[in-house]
Amino acid sequence: MLLKALALFAIGGGQLGNTLDAIPNEGDWGAPPVTEDTFDEIERAGFKSVRLPTTWTHHFASEAPGYVVNATWMNRIETVVDRTLKKGFWVVINVHHDSWEWADFTQPEDLEARKTKFEKLWVQIADRFKSKSDKLIFEPLSEPAGGNSEANADQYNDANQRFVNVVRNSGGYNKDRLLTLLGLNANIQRTVDWFDEPTNASNYILHVHDYDPWETSWGRTRWGFADDKKQIEDTFIALQNHFKVPAMIGEWGLTSKTVESAAAWDYFGFFVRTSKKYQLVNQLWDNGGDHYDRINKIWRDPVKLDIVNTMKDVPNTMFVCPQIGAVWLKKGAALTQLEKEPGTNYVLSATGFNLTEAYFKKALKDNTTGLKDTLTIKSSRGIQLPLQIRLYEKPVISTTAIQETSTDTLLIPVAFNGATLAIVKAVRKDDWTVYYGDLQKARIN
Ligand SMILES: *[C@@H]1O[C@H](CO)[C@@H](O)[C@H](O)[C@H]1NC(C)=O
Ligand SMILES: *[C@@H]1O[C@H](CO)[C@@H](O)[C@H](O)[C@H]1NC(C)=O
Ligand SMILES: *[C@@H]1O[C@H](CO)[C@@H](O)[C@H](O)[C@H]1NC(C)=O
Ligand SMILES: *[C@@H]1O[C@H](CO)[C@@H](O)[C@H](O)[C@H]1NC(C)=O
Repeated sequence: MLLKALALFAIGGGQLGNTLDAIPNEGDWGAPPVTEDTFDEIERAGFKSVRLPTTWTHHFASEAPGYVVNATWMNRIETVVDRTLKKGFWVVINVHHDSWEWADFTQPEDLEARKTKFEKLWVQIADRFKSKSDKLIFEPLSEPAGGNSEANADQYNDANQRFVNVVRNSGGYNKDRLLTLLGLNANIQRTVDWFDEPTNASNYILHVHDYDPWETSWGRTRWGFADDKKQIEDTFIALQNHFKVPAMIGEWGLTSKTVESAAAWDYFGFFVRTSKKYQLVNQLWDNGGDHYDRINKIWRDPVKLDIVNTMKDVPNTMFVCPQIGAVWLKKGAALTQLEKEPGTNYVLSATGFNLTEAYFKKALKDNTTGLKDTLTIKSSRGIQLPLQIRLYEKPVISTTAIQETSTDTLLIPVAFNGATLAIVKAVRKDDWTVYYGDLQKARIN
């Protein structure tokens, strides 16, 4: 059963982030509520599994001692689960932001009462879903919260045991249902160091998250150096060496828009190939803002989708500007040494290709700055990659027209002149960037 499950969803899965897990209600974090057709495109794109992060905190009809889940909410979750199962996906449901809202079991206050609440919550979820297909998977608690210590990890070993006891004794198909279990913070190293297998767990997948290197999501614009790749591969090896059970990376991805496109493709390509090499199931994190725009029903970057779902190589060595995915031409600068092959757009050799004078004459015929052309580079292996030709002048940032449009928004007018934004460096420390070093004090909203 387990091997069959893995073979089926090893292809990769998607996520419905910031939706059923939004606080306090579905739809409150910008991602639209689930509709009848939400999963059509995810299915068409080739994903085999869907994780449905679900936050329960604000949906209890009563607190102690019953901790009864609001029936409307439970019905809503069941409706969404049924929709995904009907489409044939493997589906993961969980207890999501509760992890830091009340289920941080490393905090001593009312600890036993909160663990009881966790058990009672799972009694209700297990009961409601016990008769569903064996393609439905339970995840006890996403990213178990708390500082890096073995004592903290042990709190979640205990919570995992309580979860297993509840689920395995809840009847229906839950005796054998596939579970995913997590260690402290869903961090790979902390899981390797301190995760204990619960008694009677059987039939489970170890579940970790991987956003390494973290600063790539917080201001670094490049990725793909040998160290970056080694960092990811080393953690996969540690995971595989340590455990005899299958493992999945239940969240990964670049959540930032600041990483250069070709660097991001390299990351995506490396990640899916390497997770496959070590037989790790992967589920790409998506909150609707990063990858699939569920309002307009388009993929923000179809190249990434192609990489994730074909697991093909990224032939990025062809790029003139490694990692950037674009040729930037400064307006007015002379183009020298161009190949003069009349009627030809490019000249190919064993080591690469040059665009010709004839090509640039056409592409830059009118002088307006911005995107002039997108070339598609097809090679005999790997996915097709777009290469942008862009004309720009120096961007001009207004130092006089800056406006505070609300208490938390500062409007800084910029004439981009064909350039695009790389990173914004926040000078005022806010509650988030204060925790990061200089490189990471950057955000784009
Ligand atoms: C359950 O949730 C619904 C929808 O938010 C709300 O109208 C209702 O009052 C809630 N019921 C209880 C008992 O809290
Ligand atoms: C494990 O299962 C056995 C057999 O059902 C049972 O006797 C035992 O109590 C279980 N252990 C725990 C920790 O639940
Ligand atoms: C491209 O042009 C450069 C400069 O003229 C030349 O050195 C190089 O050999 C050319 N490469 C190809 C693939 O034609
Ligand atoms: C392009 O710009 C140059 C000078 O920057 C100007 O002489 C020429 O007329 C412009 N061409 C067009 C088509 O706008």
